[in-house]
Amino acid sequence: MSLSLTSLGEYLLCLVCLELSLADIMSLRQVCRVLSRTTKAKVLWIYILERQALEETIMPPYLNDYERLNSSTIEALVRRVSRLAHKWETQDLSPVRSWKLHLPLAITWLRLVAGRWLFVASSDSSSSKISCWDLSLIFQGCMEPLAEAYLPGQVKTGKLEVQKLGIVLALGLGPEAQAVHILTLRKCHGCHVFAELCCIQGSSHVLMLSGDVVACALRHGDSVPHIINWMAQRVYDIPPPPDDLNIPCRRSVPHLITTWNGALIIVRRNTLEFYTLPSANDSIGFLKLVQISTTWEAAVLCASPSVSSMGSPLRLITISPAGVEICIIEDPLTGLDSAGGFCLDPTPNPEHRTPWYRLSVGQAGRRFLRISFNEVSEFDSDGFPKPRKPPHFTFSTVPSQSCGLLTNSPRASKVPRIVWDTDGEPALWAIPTIDFDEALGLTVVGNIFGELAIYDHVGQHPERCTDLSIDLTDQKTAVPPLLPTTPLKLDLPVAPTLKIVATQTQAGETTWIFMNYDHPGYYELSKWYGEPCDEAWILEHAYGFPGRVLPQAFQRDPLSDGCQTMLFRVGSRYFAFRHDEYQLLSFTGTPSGYLDVVDDGQVETYSRPTAMTERDAFLDGKVKQEGWGETIEDTFDDEDYPDPRPDLV
Ligand SMILES: *[C@@H]1O[C@H](CO)[C@@H](O)[C@H](O)[C@H]1NC(C)=O
Ligand SMILES: *[C@@H]1O[C@H](CO)[C@@H](O)[C@H](O)[C@H]1NC(C)=O
Repeated sequence: MSLSLTSLGEYLLCLVCLELSLADIMSLRQVCRVLSRTTKAKVLWIYILERQALEETIMPPYLNDYERLNSSTIEALVRRVSRLAHKWETQDLSPVRSWKLHLPLAITWLRLVAGRWLFVASSDSSSSKISCWDLSLIFQGCMEPLAEAYLPGQVKTGKLEVQKLGIVLALGLGPEAQAVHILTLRKCHGCHVFAELCCIQGSSHVLMLSGDVVACALRHGDSVPHIINWMAQRVYDIPPPPDDLNIPCRRSVPHLITTWNGALIIVRRNTLEFYTLPSANDSIGFLKLVQISTTWEAAVLCASPSVSSMGSPLRLITISPAGVEICIIEDPLTGLDSAGGFCLDPTPNPEHRTPWYRLSVGQAGRRFLRISFNEVSEFDSDGFPKPRKPPHFTFSTVPSQSCGLLTNSPRASKVPRIVWDTDGEPALWAIPTIDFDEALGLTVVGNIFGELAIYDHVGQHPERCTDLSIDLTDQKTAVPPLLPTTPLKLDLPVAPTLKIVATQTQAGETTWIFMNYDHPGYYELSKWYGEPCDEAWILEHAYGFPGRVLPQAFQRDPLSDGCQTMLFRVGSRYFAFRHDEYQLLSFTGTPSGYLDVVDDGQVETYSRPTAMTERDAFLDGKVKQEGWGETIEDTFDDEDYPDPRPDLV
């Protein structure tokens, strides 16, 4: 009697398979029908999946109830996460495939949900829309969006959360229609539609969405952090810390707002502010301030604020002057007034402007990326600086908790940087917005030219992993009012609206000159329209004062014809920009007289200097684009060479 493998019976064969590598299981599948059936058994793939999860392979956080999935989907997932883990080990994240779309509008926000739904907000000066694509259709070659709807203003900020109601989006619109729109995507009579759960007028700059609570940083155009219970349509004020909101670093919008252990936390450049949540007392109470090292960008490092177990420290990942840091905050009510941390990746050129911006962390909190530009200055053999490399992605892994690195240890650990170039498409220099699925190995990028790309770092049937989550758009409750599906006219001004300051003052020989449309010679007004990387953009992104810039007046330099100081307003706050000193002053009322003597408390500094690196990358890209165009013209006929990019203006 010959004993063959196939006579072992299904259960024992499964046990044998569990001892094999994935490649060997695939070989075994080729041997015969019995073995082929065994290697496709659902129970086998569930075992392997669970084992991988225990071995700290990164699993999609939205993979709920995986026993509901069929065997081939579980197998596809297992093979995908293993292949991705291998790509990380070999430090090669070059995408295997990509899908590209060109929207007619500038992309200002996007988010990828459950490896399947891609939400994109795009706008121009006359319309603004929100669209959703189903990646399972895109992967099969259908580029049509699942649903589209129009909004009354440009989406400046947004947060998205999967809730009991399905996918919930909180979108903060620009100053032309200042409001937070709470939306959801629903399946309705076999189609998909955007529906509006709620709209809160007057609030904007969304920094958090957690259940019923939305945290916003702008109220009627002023930087005043507050929270909204959107279900109850109720706005809660956040009391200012004892030393007031009107101090440098606290006048601008915060980097981040999050909840943790029942507290509300506002992350600013040098401090964390702790508050009670209204659930405790129907109002928000100030708890304490905790000092942190200088923070230019920050993200919370955990699956979701509500998932973090009670008592575990809050961990933030930040870009600081030292590099990428992890900041660990133990329970502040028992602990110290300052937070510890360590540097994960020291900055390569500390004497120069930070080379990294747009820090983003995956949903499972295990991998992060940032865009790098000008990381090291390179010189050729003759000592001339080499042309700058265009901006590119840099991915890294967060050391896992079991490595003991995420305790408050002084041991500095340098994580490897995996650099990945998008081959120049979409233009990563054009103020990109990014999201990535760290478990499935998908990265999505959109830019202000409307270029949208989906990169697959793994390859091999990505469409087989788009059904890991239940259909989040399929809900039993009544569909809320639908959003319009025809464009709404935007009230975007072509130029800033000008207002005259109430009182004209004179000091010394210099007078404030009040601005109006027909004032000749004021050539710099165009720098304040809010175009990418102009002065208004810097005010919003580097100084942290979003809103419409309303120029008010300027002082002329007595010795030259140029503008010396420009006075403008954003919300109810006045600013003076001194060109000679490149200095921004801020006032609660109209300043009077000649701005010669400056109170230090009025001087604003960058809250997010990484925006200036992003601006460098933009200007460099623009110059190269224009320069490139000239060389091309010399060599090719226009018709021979496709227009690589839409016009910049
Ligand atoms: C498994 O499920 C996926 C998605 O639900 C489906 O597309 C596929 O056809 C199923 N495969 C089998 C073999 O039933
Ligand atoms: C609740 O709020 C009131 C003021 O609104 C305050 O006096 C009281 O101490 C608060 N209670 C708690 C438990 O925070």
